[in-house]
Amino acid sequence: MCSWTFRMSGALGLILAAAVALAAGQESQVSRPSGEGLPDGPGKDVTVRACGTCHEGRRAASVRLTRDGWAAVIEDMQQRGAKVSEQEFPVILDYLTTHFLGEALQPLNLNTASQIDLEAAGGLLRREAAAVIRYREQHGRFKTLDDLKNVPGLDFKKIENRRDSLVVM
Ligand code: HEC
Repeated sequence: MCSWTFRMSGALGLILAAAVALAAGQESQVSRPSGEGLPDGPGKDVTVRACGTCHEGRRAASVRLTRDGWAAVIEDMQQRGAKVSEQEFPVILDYLTTHFLGEALQPLNLNTASQIDLEAAGGLLRREAAAVIRYREQHGRFKTLDDLKNVPGLDFKKIENRRDSLVVM
């Protein structure tokens, strides 16, 4: 599932960042609700509808995540009340990973990873990444990935799902 994210290059990120910046510039002239600032493409309408109600859909443009990371975000947003049907889930996931992909090239060492790395490469939400760091500070290094089960507020499934790209050293 992760493998195709490996093929994406940083250059794409730059192009997308430029596209988003461009769209953001246009937005100052024309003020439209929620979808503005998001690149056009298949799935945009569905994404704006599902993700543009509580905050602007553009919020997604501020983050770069792996495919797994985006799946976790959508699940998290569903728990917050986002209405995403089974049919819409993969459409939104494709849209977000096409335009806002982060890279996960190196295995991530959960004992040293920064907040940003835990979010971008580890696919954790901001508060989960913060909880991992807090736990690390209080209890010392993780000895096995299973130790992450003890981190309050962390959805361990996210660790479980990307075991092959996470290490504790
Ligand atoms: C029912 C309201 C609601 C809907 C609908 C919603 N969100 Fe959110 N979203 C939130 C709230 C509340 C936060 C702030 C969470 C936080 O800061 O911890 C948030 C934060 C975020 C963040 C930032 C996460 C972070 O860790 O900083 C992203 C990215 C995001 N949402 C994406 C989405 C996407 C993609 C969708 C559509 C699938 C969506 N949201 C739909 C309520 C919603």
